[in-house]
Order: sequence, then structure tokens, then C-alpha cells
Amino acid sequence: MKDQAEGLRKLVDKQDRASRIIAVTSGKGGVGKTNIAANLALALCQMGHRVVLIDVDLGLANVDIVLGMTPTFDLGHVFRGEKTLREVIVEGPLGLKVLSGGSGVTDLANLNGWRLEVFIKSLEQLNREFDFVILDTGAGIHRSVLSFVLAATEILVVTTPEPTAITDAYGLLKVIHQRSPHAKVHLVVNMAKSPNEAEAVADKLNSVLLEYVKWEVDYIGYILQESQLAKAVSDQQPVLLAFPSAMSSRSLKRIAGVLTGEKVQVAPLGITGFFSKVYDFLSMQ
Ligand SMILES: Nc1ncnc2c1ncn2[C@@H]1O[C@H](COP(=O)(O)OP(=O)(O)OP(=O)(O)O)[C@@H](O)[C@H]1O
Ligand SMILES: [Mg+2]
Repeated sequence: MKDQAEGLRKLVDKQDRASRIIAVTSGKGGVGKTNIAANLALALCQMGHRVVLIDVDLGLANVDIVLGMTPTFDLGHVFRGEKTLREVIVEGPLGLKVLSGGSGVTDLANLNGWRLEVFIKSLEQLNREFDFVILDTGAGIHRSVLSFVLAATEILVVTTPEPTAITDAYGLLKVIHQRSPHAKVHLVVNMAKSPNEAEAVADKLNSVLLEYVKWEVDYIGYILQESQLAKAVSDQQPVLLAFPSAMSSRSLKRIAGVLTGEKVQVAPLGITGFFSKVYDFLSMQ
């Protein structure tokens, strides 16, 4: 295990380019992560960035459903050594590259070492190709989710104004801060009734964080509860393309603008580094 981790680190040291790797996550399930990840990825494509969207909600992968795609192969085929990474990446709308979640693989630590190394080597080629890697993760603080969240260069936490969602977001943020005190965390409030309500949610969360954890997160925007988004989901289309002038589409573009507008110091991590951090995390458990 140790030798292998060493080998992976050498691979990471060789790489020369860093993508921004943003993990979209939440404490509570069903708060809009997959929709936000997919539409944000598309908004970044519209702005001319090179983006890959990776579904790492391994048990319940559904990025492809939100995008209305039916890929034949997924990460599971790569992990099982049946397909190469290149063979499973498909092109979605606006040139967005999509890597669908693997069915049948819930934990990278279960992969045999040689397989993982082959996988990480193939990821290395991708490092030079993308400005943004957007990860759609599962909800909660299970290790299979945290391994991806803590390895990303940035974390976008989604909550809704529901008290249970806020409480779970707080629980997740506390764990993120304990494990990774310098993590760059963005907060998005989804399904709000008004901008004021969203802001009140962000303020509440930050005041509790400040009091108990002495830390605050960066509130970067809201998306209102909107029937057009729900309609787009049932039509299996991303709202940004189905209803470009809907409020939610405009909010998602605004959030993409905030993310690209800010200067973020990205550690030279890249996709290869990201997956070896995931692996390190799981090996230490
Ligand atoms: N802003 C919104 N307005 C209206 N409905 C929304 C909005 N955001 C999300 N939804 C609804 O919530 C549902 C869940 O969204 P989504 O699948 O993106 O959540 P999730 O956090 O990824 O869920 P999971 O934890 O199961 O992965 C969607 O099917 C959609 O109908
Ligand atoms: Mg989801």
C-alpha cells in the first residue's frame, strides 16, 4: 500500500498543469447538486472554458439523466479495466465532456492497486486538456463522498432554506474544516423563495460557523425555487439550454461568473493529483 502511494505521488510530481477541480456537494440529499454541477459546467463552457463533468456519485450516478444523455459506458467500466478513460468520456452539449458515474463501484479503495495506477496514469493525459473539472458528488459525510470532496481544489456546498438541509450543511462544513482547515469553500443556496431568504440562510450558517468553528464560507449566490427548472429535469434537459432566460439559468450563469472572476490559487494538483489524494485519503482510513 505504501509503495503504491509513493508511486502515485511520483506520477503527480511530473505533471505540469493544474485544472480547477470543484466538488459540488451537500449535507442533505436532494438539494440540487446534480443540476447545479451540470448547469454550472455548461455555463463555464459557454464562457469558453474547457470543462469536464465527472459524476462521482458512484452509487447513484445521474448526471447523464440531467443532461439527457445515454452513455453506454461509465467509470465502472474503467475501474474494472474493461474500457480506457478515453473510451468512456463522451461529448455533451456545448462541447462539455462528460464522464458518467460507475455503477457497481462505490469505493476507489476497493480497486486493485495495478488497476488504480493504470487509471491514474490515463487521467494524467487529461490534465492538460481542461480548465475546470466539475465533480458531482453524493450527499453527506461518508468516506466515499469525503474522499472526493477533500481532494478537490475547491468545494461548492449546496443547501436549501430547509432547516434540515441547513443543519446538515453545518455538519458537513464542520467536518470539512476539521479535516482540511484551508479548504476553499463556496456556498450556494438553492430553492430559495427570494434573494433575501437565500441571504438570510447564508448569514445564519456563517454566524453559527463563526461562533462554533471560528470560520466562514464564501457565499457566492442563490438559485430560486422555479418551476422551469423542475420542468427541465422532467424533460431530461439542462435548464440552461431548455430555458436560457429562466431565472435559474441566469443565476447559474452569475455563479459561473463569480467563480471565474475570482482569483483562486490552485495548488498544482490536476486530475492525477486529485485522484491520488482520493486514494491517499481512503488508504489512511
Ligand atoms: N431551483 C430549483 N427549483 C425547482 N426545483 C428544483 C430546483 N433545484 C432542484 N430542484 C428539484 O430537486 C430535484 C433534485 O435535484 P438534484 O437531483 O439536482 O439534487 P441532488 O442534490 O443532486 O440529489 P441527490 O442527493 O439525490 O444526488 C430535481 O429533480 C428538481 O426537480
Ligand atoms: Mg445528485
